[in-house]
This record gives sequence, C-alpha cells and structure tokens, in this order.
Amino acid sequence: MNMQKAEELAYKVINDYGGAFLMALGYIGDQLGLFKALESSGATTSTELASATGLNERYVREWLKAMVAAEYLDFDSSTGRYVMTPAQAAVLSNQDSPLFAGGAFKLTMPTLYNVPRITDSFRNGGGIPYSEIGPDVPCAIEQVFRPGYLHFLVAEWLTKVPGLTERLEQGAKVIDVGCGRGQSTVAMARAFPNSRFLGIDYHAGSIDAARALALRHELGNVQFLAAPAEQALAQGHCDLICAFDCIHDMVHPVATLEAIRAALAPGGVFVWGEPNATHEPLQNRNPIGRLFHAISPLHCLTVSLAHGGAGLGTVIGEAGARELAQQAGFATFEKLPTNHPFNQFFACRPN
Ligand SMILES: C[S@@+](CC[C@H](N)C(=O)[O-])C[C@H]1O[C@@H](n2cnc3c(N)ncnc32)[C@H](O)[C@@H]1O
Repeated sequence: MNMQKAEELAYKVINDYGGAFLMALGYIGDQLGLFKALESSGATTSTELASATGLNERYVREWLKAMVAAEYLDFDSSTGRYVMTPAQAAVLSNQDSPLFAGGAFKLTMPTLYNVPRITDSFRNGGGIPYSEIGPDVPCAIEQVFRPGYLHFLVAEWLTKVPGLTERLEQGAKVIDVGCGRGQSTVAMARAFPNSRFLGIDYHAGSIDAARALALRHELGNVQFLAAPAEQALAQGHCDLICAFDCIHDMVHPVATLEAIRAALAPGGVFVWGEPNATHEPLQNRNPIGRLFHAISPLHCLTVSLAHGGAGLGTVIGEAGARELAQQAGFATFEKLPTNHPFNQFFACRPN
C-alpha cells in the first residue's frame, strides 16, 4: 500500500467531513440571519449577536467559533470580538455581490434531506420529480445562479456572440427556456427594453416567482409561461433562445433542443449554458468539477430519471453538449470564450 497516498486521501475525507457540517452551520446562519447581522454589526461579541438576532447565546457562541475555525469569520482575541470583514461579507451575506456564495448553504441542506429517497432510487431506479424535490430547492437554485445573471449575463456572456447585443438593443424576440424563478430573463429584460422576452419553465411555483420579480421591476417587456418547453415553443419566430443550466436536467433534452432549433428565426441563435466541467471525470478533479459530479445523482440525474427521462446528469461538458446539438439538427455549435468558474456557454445556429 502507498502510505502517502492513503494519508492524502484520509486528509481529503476529513476536509470534506468538516465541509459537510459547515454547510449545515452555514444554512443555520443564513436562515437565522446571523451572517446579515454580522455584516451590519461590525466587531461583536456572542452576547451582542445573540441579543441582536434574538437567539440563544450559547448556540450562537459555538456557531461563531466554528465559523472562525473555518476561516469564514475573523476573531480579535485581544477584545473577544468576532469580525466579518468586507471580503467575507461579499461571499457570505451580500446577495448582490458577484462573489456571493451563500446559495451553497441554501441548496446543500434541502438537497441532503432527499438522501433516503435517492438511496431507494439507487436500488430501484426512478427518482424524485422536480415538483417533489423540496420547496426550498428552486429558491436555492435561484440564489446560486443569481450573481452570475446580475453581473455577467448581459455585461459579458451575451457579448461573446458577435452582433447579439446590438440586435437586442434594437429589439429582438427572446425566449428563456427553463428560466426557473426568472432571474436571467429579468436581467435581460431590464437591460434591453426594446426587446420582448418570454420565460418558460414547467415548474409553476417558479413561474409565479418569476412573474412577481418582473412586477417588482415594473417590466412591460417580459412574460412567463408555465409549461414543458418542448411542447410550448412555437415555430420559427425567435431571434434568441437561451437555456441556462437546465437542458441536462430535462426528461427529453433532445426533443427540447429540436423544438428550440425549430423556434429560431433564420439567423437566430441559441445560447446554451451548462456547468463548467468536462465529460471526463479525471479532468474534473478540481473544486468545481467534483462539486457538480457530487450534486448530479442528488439533483439533476434524479429529476430526469423520475420520469423515465434521458438522465444526462449534471456534467455533460462541451463534448456532451456538442453531441446533443448534432442530434437535434443544429447546423453549428461553438463554445463561447467566457471565463466563469461555474458556467460554460455554447452558441448554436439552426442554419
Ligand atoms: C437547475 S434549474 C435552472 C433554472 C434557471 N435557468 C437558473 O439558471 O436559475 C433547471 C430548471 O429547468 C426547468 N425545467 C426542467 N425541464 C423542463 C422542461 N421540459 N420545460 C421547461 N422547464 C424545465 C426546471 O423546472 C428548473 O427550473
């Protein structure tokens, strides 16, 4: 036995062991407003933080110590005060920051509640449909992806398709397939008032939230539809169709891609976002790749297999996307030159 390799693996497991419990504490901190309170309080004691949040001081103190040990927070031992630095706030508490990672806490815990059912699916097949995945999961997904849509979708990702921004500024017809709670659709609709946007998602609760979001922004150029995209897309009229982090989840991904191709007007483009990993597991030995692989059976795979679907899993990579695009009859497939840790993007054209 290679003792050094065994020790390295043992340390890796221990690192993940602590990480799993930290996700739970992060979830508690998010749910109970501890991160937000720390951001606004400045340097604080456990007693002050417990009083500000109305929580039990002993639990709060233990939570704070765990956060310091994890290097999520700082501690000034000369004053006995806990500190959230601006950099820590940007990651842990400020939802509008491009680096906000608190969606991870929101997604991990409700996903792990499903482990007993997923264990059963390992034995018997099938899975958990999206409608039963848990009420917190769609909101968590929204939080995970929102920073990207807020900061990079319009400013960077769409600009990588030559001429697309100008077309959207002039006025284009756009459909956002699998739009979830509407963050990507609304980000585009706000940026391009001359264009008309339709967000489609088969999860009715998400569409309700998307409509409320559009209302809050007083947008007149966006509508939402609760329907399976492969059935709802009309033929040949769209300048741009987007699908962000949803094709691999689908029961019928190729049918949806075929419907997208048919719905594009001549000269239209399909901009397709997928998790930033490759189809080759050995190349995914990095924090992002292993995260997506670990999520896959617990979310993306199961929501598709629940309906006897294609079960592509979270990680299709560029090679998988290219193959699907070919199967769906797209004439061109191109990886866009974006550089984002979580997402990669492709542009496909029907002719
Ligand atoms: C991981 S979520 C991503 C949501 C959103 N695009 C985002 O990035 O936040 C996948 C979404 O695909 C939707 N979805 C899956 N299959 C669909 C289908 N056939 N038609 C429409 N929406 C679908 C789900 O309801 C879910 O909202």
